[in-house]
Amino acid sequence: MRFSRALLPLILTTCAFAAEPFLQKPYLQLGDAPKLAAAESLVLMWHTTDQPASWKVEVRTSKDRAWRAAAVPVSRRVNVEGIEPHLVYRAKLTALVPGEEFRYRVSRADSPVFESTARARRPVDQPQHFVVFGDIAQGTPSQRAIAHQVAEAKPEFIVVTGDVVYGSGRISEYRERFFPVYNADTASRETGAPLLRSVPFIAAPGNHDTALRNFERFPDALAYFLYWDQPLNGPRLNAPKTSHTLTATAPAQAAFKDAAQNRYPVMANFSFDYGNAHWTMLDSNPYMDWNDPALLRWLKADLESARNSTWRFVAFHHPGFNSSKSHLSDQWMRRLAPVFEQAGVDVVFSGHVHNYQRSFPLTYVPKPQPDGALVSARGEVAGDWTLDREFGNGEEGAKPKGVIYIVTGAGGAGLYNPEQQTDQTTWLPFTQKFFSVRHSFSLVDIDGRKFRMKQITEDGAAIDVFSLTK
Ligand SMILES: [Fe+2]
Repeated sequence: MRFSRALLPLILTTCAFAAEPFLQKPYLQLGDAPKLAAAESLVLMWHTTDQPASWKVEVRTSKDRAWRAAAVPVSRRVNVEGIEPHLVYRAKLTALVPGEEFRYRVSRADSPVFESTARARRPVDQPQHFVVFGDIAQGTPSQRAIAHQVAEAKPEFIVVTGDVVYGSGRISEYRERFFPVYNADTASRETGAPLLRSVPFIAAPGNHDTALRNFERFPDALAYFLYWDQPLNGPRLNAPKTSHTLTATAPAQAAFKDAAQNRYPVMANFSFDYGNAHWTMLDSNPYMDWNDPALLRWLKADLESARNSTWRFVAFHHPGFNSSKSHLSDQWMRRLAPVFEQAGVDVVFSGHVHNYQRSFPLTYVPKPQPDGALVSARGEVAGDWTLDREFGNGEEGAKPKGVIYIVTGAGGAGLYNPEQQTDQTTWLPFTQKFFSVRHSFSLVDIDGRKFRMKQITEDGAAIDVFSLTK
């Protein structure tokens, strides 16, 4: 058969479309499943063009003799200005065996088009192995090298402490800087790694993700609420001081809310359990008022509900305790330190500041500003800290007296204050470790009552190690 020259490009385009059914390949999410279950679940998501198609997802665990159908995929059409309308699919993978690997496959029109392995959430009595990093998708070579190193470490899940994509949390930026790197088909320092398809990412929002609410400027902003699927057990954000105002025409707001459904705005704060640990994920952006009694009640109740968890972790974007000259006055989360101490929180993970810092175990008493407020107009908090300088690195089971605050914001975006690493005179007294000359991520192993964290650089070197024992 002969084709005319004029028809050839059209035929090639059509063939390319047939070969590539996804706008974004499948990626795993925790879904609205905050608690461990005897039959675990995860949510598989993928994006396609606006062409209707019949999709099917199947799973195969150690208890399945053959492929078994997952929940029927449901799609949501995203139709915001400036972006071709597209479909975001979700399928719940059910009846997973806690802690075990399983396979899944995705079929379009009854033809399998994608297959991968993943692991169900660990039950309370199994060891666990995870990564924490923040400030990631800026499109830098180091972002891709870190993604590759993270994949080499084989984490079971990944916590992102905000600033998922730069610079404004837009759909276009997810497409350019997030999915191609963390769901790359090949693993290398230059490309990234196929992480998202087999490792659930769980994210707190940073300023670059959700602080821009101006749809008149960027109608494809706030993609966090469109592309993530996380527990919806956060506080209802209707307190008078908590502003979630969107700046946009009524149709633009309606288009966004229709695509985000009930995830906006509640999904920005939530909690979940993994193994014997409880995680509380907070939105630390300045539009949230953590002085608000209703929000504090939710936070205290959430932490109280985790009394029986062996480990309690909190993650949010803006660090309360930071020695970097960059963002030095963004201290407003410091005011929650007494709440964390009261609840027996072990470690607080943040980002925002693009380097690595570890505090001494500490307790903190905030003092009111002259006008009676706990947080100044610039974001500063006054107060007194008590530092546990005896703890060291937790050798021989040393018990920390207080909460350890980690800044792990060196996940890909341009580093801050490399000059401070060797100049300890610039560190505030609560800082025990400060590493700012290479990109890095936090790798944690928990086995029962033992916690061990290593900070790993993009070259694979461990530049900090510490342990906690209960
Ligand atoms: Fe930030």
